[in-house]
Formats: sequence, structure tokens, C-alpha cells
Amino acid sequence: MNQLSRSQQIPFIDVGAQRQRLGKSLDAAVSRVFAHCQFINGPEVMQLEAELAAFSGAKHVVTCSSGTDALLMVLMAKGVRPGDAVLCPSFTFSATGEAVALTGATPVFVDVDETTFNMDAASLERAIATARQLGLDPKAVIPVDLFGQSADHDAIAAVAEGEGLFVLDDAAQGFGASYKGRRLGTFGLATATSFFPAKPLGCFGDGGAIFTDDAELAATLRSIRVHGQGSDKYDNVRLGLTARLDTVQAAILIEKLKIFEDEIAARKEVADRYARGLGNVVTVPRLAGGCSSIWAQYTIRLPEGRDRDGFAAALKAQGIPTAIYYPKSMHQQTAYREFPVADGGLAVSERLSSDVISLPMHAYLDEETQDQIIAAVRGAVST
Ligand SMILES: Cc1ncc(COP(=O)(O)O)c(C=O)c1O
Repeated sequence: MNQLSRSQQIPFIDVGAQRQRLGKSLDAAVSRVFAHCQFINGPEVMQLEAELAAFSGAKHVVTCSSGTDALLMVLMAKGVRPGDAVLCPSFTFSATGEAVALTGATPVFVDVDETTFNMDAASLERAIATARQLGLDPKAVIPVDLFGQSADHDAIAAVAEGEGLFVLDDAAQGFGASYKGRRLGTFGLATATSFFPAKPLGCFGDGGAIFTDDAELAATLRSIRVHGQGSDKYDNVRLGLTARLDTVQAAILIEKLKIFEDEIAARKEVADRYARGLGNVVTVPRLAGGCSSIWAQYTIRLPEGRDRDGFAAALKAQGIPTAIYYPKSMHQQTAYREFPVADGGLAVSERLSSDVISLPMHAYLDEETQDQIIAAVRGAVST
């Protein structure tokens, strides 16, 4: 078998290349925190929140400990509880539905669109009806901007408004993308994102943020992230969490945000080049009208009947990693099997789970390496 050394392996996401680019500025940012020692809620946390608000256009940004906590905190702040239903796509990372289940409410799974992989508004309507038939009280919908492409926020908002639901956008993969010219962070009641290291805007550990224009919600979220603290530190006024973003991570994110626009442009170039090189041999991602993508993942679909494991093995033998997001949709996973799904089923989610595969994607993927990947994909599908 063809044995490859570590140096011949192409990284799936090259966190190291970005680290090298930022070099001393990151070291200096972290050193400043080590000097002032305000490790919790230090000045960098407030600075980052202001800069994220300016970047996204949202009025309030509340940073927190992870993307999962960002989702959970909004649901807690809105009093979502047992007996409530929250509609979310099944073809997503498990945290989307997990946050719902953690409140005691019932996630009701919705199918996605075959082209964009994002929530299908018609399936959403069916899922709301399913929830009501089951005696649940539909409270919220969580669209996901999957793989970096913004969901169809107007279509989701129209259904949500008609049904009296609030919208919590899960932009853990999509922060940096826009919809009809407006950055994510400004749709629905609130938006949650993740700063997990592999995300387009990632820190060096766990982190997340919530974006909202609602001042009252922002104040409640600030209380929830510190145990439900009130104006008197030792009189907690609600149940909360320990869900703050570390000052060190905020300092790192401030530096990364400075080059984020540049990285967004670089990611787009990589995606455009993949589309040109692969568009006639596999199904490449397509953007819906008005949507942009931050290209958190570059996810293709193989021609019908093509063995996905064999394809992945052929690329691996050439030092090219691939990943499958997600081999099981949420409703197919052990912990979520008992939760309801939209009437009519989730055929698209199930199909996607069986045929998608993601290629290396990051802002530092040079043309030579990309050509190697394109050639390997073309070779693997034609044999
Ligand atoms: C769609 C989606 N939602 C939520 C999360 C949770 O984010 P975190 O890992 O920061 O908790 C992720 C993380 O991968 C995600 O992809």
C-alpha cells in the first residue's frame, strides 16, 4: 500500500497556516491578558462584542462558552420548556437539536432542500402541524446555515410569523455569510454562532456568541451566562449557567477578526475553483439566489451508485483527507430516534446522509494543492 509520511498529508482545515500568518500579533494579544490578569470578563471580551456587533450589524452581541450554549441560552431566556416544540432540521450537527432537548422541550425534525441542504419551508409547515397533532406547543424554529450557506431566511420568517414562532438562527457554520446583502447575525430574534477552532472564525478552544437586536433578551442572556445573576451578585434571579467566553479567547478572536474579511474572500476563491474543476464530474454545492456562503465545508455529492467509502479510501491513499458531515441525520441517531419528524418524512436528509462527502477547505489552500485534490477526485470518480 502507498504509505505517506505526515508531511505529505494535506490538512483538512489548516489552523496552523493561519497561526503562522498571525504570528506575533497573537502572542502579543495573549501576553496582554497574562499581564492584566482579568481572565474572566476582561476588557477584550467587551471589545470583541463591540467589534462583532459592528461586523454583523446586530445591535447586541453576548459572547459565551460555545455554540451549543449560545443556542441553549436563547431557549432558556425565552422560557422554552417541556411541552413546547422547537422545529429544527435533521440534517445538521447534533448540537442544534440537543440544545432543544436539554430544555425539556421536544425537537421536531424538519427536512432540508435537496440543493442547498438547508431547511425546507414546506417541510417546516408540515412539522408545525405534526407538533400540534401531538399536543405540543410550537414555540420556535432553528434554521441552520449549513456548511456556511445562509438559509432561506425570508421563507422561514414568513412561516414563523404566520405561526407565532420566534426564529433562532444557528449560524455556527455560517457566521460571515450573508443573505440578500445582510450579514448573518441580523435575522430572526437571535443568532447563535460557534468559535470552535475549526470554524471559519475560530478561537483556540471553545467559544460562541449570540447576536440580537432585542435589548431585553441581551440583558437576560448576560444574566444567564453568569448563573442567572441579578443586579446583586449574590441574589440570582433565574437559573443560569457558567457560560462565559474566556478573556484569552476574546483576545485571540480580536486578532482573527482583523483578517476575517480577507479569509472570506480567499475561501470564496477556493470554492469557485473547486466548482470549475469538479462541476462536470460530481454535484458541487450550489448557492440559492440571495445567499452567500462562508464555505465552512465544501461538500459534494457523488454520482449515483458511486461507493463513498471507496472514494474516500482512494483519496486517502493520495494523502487527501475527506469527512462525512453527517453520516446519520439527527432523527437516525440513537439519542434522537424517539423525537417526532415532519409529516411526510425526511427523505432528503436521509439521502444526503448517504451520499455527501466534504473536501479539504480553508483560506490557505494553495492552487497547487487544490489541483492535486481536483485531479484525485476526478480520477476517483472515473475509475
Ligand atoms: C450547526 C452547528 N450548531 C451548533 C454547533 C455547536 O457549536 P460548539 O461546538 O461551539 O458547541 C456546531 C458545531 O459544530 C454546529 O456545526
